[in-house]
Amino acid sequence: PLRIFSGMQPTSDSLQLGNYLGALTQWVALQDGNEAIYCVVDLHALTVAPDPSVLRERTRRTAAQYLAAGVDPERSTLFVQSHVAEHAELAWTLSCLTGYGEAARMTQFKDKSAKQGTEGTTVGLFTYPVLMAADILLYDTNRVPVGEDQRQHLELTRDLAQRLNARFGADTVVVPEPHIVKSTAKIYDLQDPTAKMSKSAASPNGLIELLDDPRRIAKRIRSAVTDTGHEIRFDPEGKPGISNLLTIFAALTGRSIPELEADYEGKGYGHLKVDLAGVVVDWVTPFQARVHEYLDDPAQLDDVLEVGAGKAREIAAVTLERVYERTGLLARR
Ligand code: TYM
Repeated sequence: PLRIFSGMQPTSDSLQLGNYLGALTQWVALQDGNEAIYCVVDLHALTVAPDPSVLRERTRRTAAQYLAAGVDPERSTLFVQSHVAEHAELAWTLSCLTGYGEAARMTQFKDKSAKQGTEGTTVGLFTYPVLMAADILLYDTNRVPVGEDQRQHLELTRDLAQRLNARFGADTVVVPEPHIVKSTAKIYDLQDPTAKMSKSAASPNGLIELLDDPRRIAKRIRSAVTDTGHEIRFDPEGKPGISNLLTIFAALTGRSIPELEADYEGKGYGHLKVDLAGVVVDWVTPFQARVHEYLDDPAQLDDVLEVGAGKAREIAAVTLERVYERTGLLARR
């Protein structure tokens, strides 16, 4: 079995469809036959300076959405990053191995810091990918299921792992590989199908939030921007809008794109959009009911997270001790 690790930031009240299709469905699939560890990365969320009570609520909501999507705490470890102190501790060690220029080249950092200006950009935002590397390396992770936008962070993680091994011994940490499923690695904005779907998009209408009112979700799909022409064909270059809708349709129904193309031959864009709106609503409605069941019992949810943190800590402590010892820190007695 492989060790699987991944996480999401609790930075909004609801996950969006890109999080679900790009990552969460893979998390659920990878539970079979592997040892999976899934984390709500609340320390990462501090980079957006959230209101304390909002952050706490969003941490629970994010965990509830993992569970509702099918993360099974009987088989997988589910926990909150700040409950395992080793994350922040290993991050410091790794930051001392990360080049300043190397961190400054991260495109997500460049984009976000450009928006916020020098004064608004924190050191936390700068070292964010180093904390992410610590998350992954602490668990001797083999595979990290993420969307395309995390590829560069995974490259940095691999570089840091190789550097640790070169300096302190070949088996200091496991060098992880990204698990990025091509077909769903980048779900696009419904209003701007050349940009990835994201909560920070220009127009809210391009975004499908999993916990939004199903009627609004349906409306956003029906008013998705489509392309010139009328043929329903998968062609990401020439027809990015329709291709994105076909990707979503296929991923949610398990049907293949050629099959969908054949089904919609001679039919208009409107037809596809109405059908897809139905597919999404039929999926999201029971999903929302499950999320609310978990949220209605926060004590039980906190119990699940406590058990998960205990299991995570056992693994993390061993890795951190090994790294500390090899880097020359005097052993605690
Ligand atoms: P985050 O919270 O921004 O996103 C969570 C996951 O969703 C994927 N994703 C998408 N996939 C396809 N299409 C989209 N439009 C789309 N939008 C988001 C992301 O690729 C991600 O897999 N840095 C990470 C969180 C993190 C992490 C980690 C991940 C922290 N530590 C350790 C893996 C391992 C992030 O900001 O994801």
